[in-house]
Amino acid sequence: MSNIPGSDISSILHGGYHHPTSRLWQSERQLTKAALMYPIFITDDPEAEEEIKSLPGQKRWGLNKLVPFLEPLYKKGLASVILFGVPLAPEAKDPYGTSADDPNGPVMQAITLLKKHFPNLFIACDVCLCEYTSHGHCGILHEDGTINNPPSVKRIAEVACNYAKQGADCVAPSDMMDGRIKAIKTALIEAGVAHKCMLISYSAKFATCLYGPFRDAAGSAPAFGDRKRYQLPPAGRGLARRAITRDLAEGADCIMVKPATAYLDIIRDAKEIAPDVPISAYQVSGEFAMIHAAAKAGVFDLRRAAEESLDGILRAGANMILTYFTPDFLDWLSE
Ligand code: PBG
Ligand code: ZN
Repeated sequence: MSNIPGSDISSILHGGYHHPTSRLWQSERQLTKAALMYPIFITDDPEAEEEIKSLPGQKRWGLNKLVPFLEPLYKKGLASVILFGVPLAPEAKDPYGTSADDPNGPVMQAITLLKKHFPNLFIACDVCLCEYTSHGHCGILHEDGTINNPPSVKRIAEVACNYAKQGADCVAPSDMMDGRIKAIKTALIEAGVAHKCMLISYSAKFATCLYGPFRDAAGSAPAFGDRKRYQLPPAGRGLARRAITRDLAEGADCIMVKPATAYLDIIRDAKEIAPDVPISAYQVSGEFAMIHAAAKAGVFDLRRAAEESLDGILRAGANMILTYFTPDFLDWLSE
């Protein structure tokens, strides 16, 4: 027998995955609806329903449009969302990000509204100042334009704590300031809400070109300079590992890697460094837009490319994925 090429016992793999079901068994983690977190942009005009050109199918929602939009998704099994506030009124921005936790602002109001209408929906809030600062940076600045870390961390912890007190199930700081996980965890404990609010750290967040469509959507591009003094250099694997280790020690309940597809090795590193917490991965706006653009250009089928991208992210070690494809997957996973 062994003179027939490829017929040794150890050569035969096809038999193990010839059927759709046995092919599913090959994955360590299978994609489920509960593994998906859907990013949502909420703006200050309550009637808004504005298309975002660079993010196909995604919109900026006003508070009055939010429940009708999410109702059908919730019925299809939407398990979690992450909220981004997008204040468009010019007076909503100042150097300190004062409006981030305005009790009448879009995020604070949305928490209450969504909790009321969708009692089982897991509500995460992105915590950052860039949508609320006049200079568009993620923290409070020194006069020379560099980050003033202590007041930034203090303000970010205050905002996170207010979202938690409002009823958010999770706060996810994306600002990349040093020491903010410890400051937020401490603030949550002191406010008596640490037992009912998960802290997801955007630990390995890289300074990538792939956030462009998000910054269009959120109006959060920096007015000058870039974010390279706080977001990680794309080639910096060691820094990412250090940030993951640090944030775990500071009290993170979950570690995030962002972007996802070009950083699968970092997702695997996170899984190894932090095996006892869930690992999340953010398939960011540019990744989503890229898949749409390529599908539109006839390079591949949209659904197959989307599925393959999530398979890769799960295979690398992610337990859950933030993706703008969530509504599509709620349909695809129902078939
Ligand atoms: C805010 C924030 C950004 C993203 C999530 N939170 C943009 C940035 O850091 O400039 C990007 C998400 C995406 O591109 O989908 N700090
Ligand atoms: Zn920011």
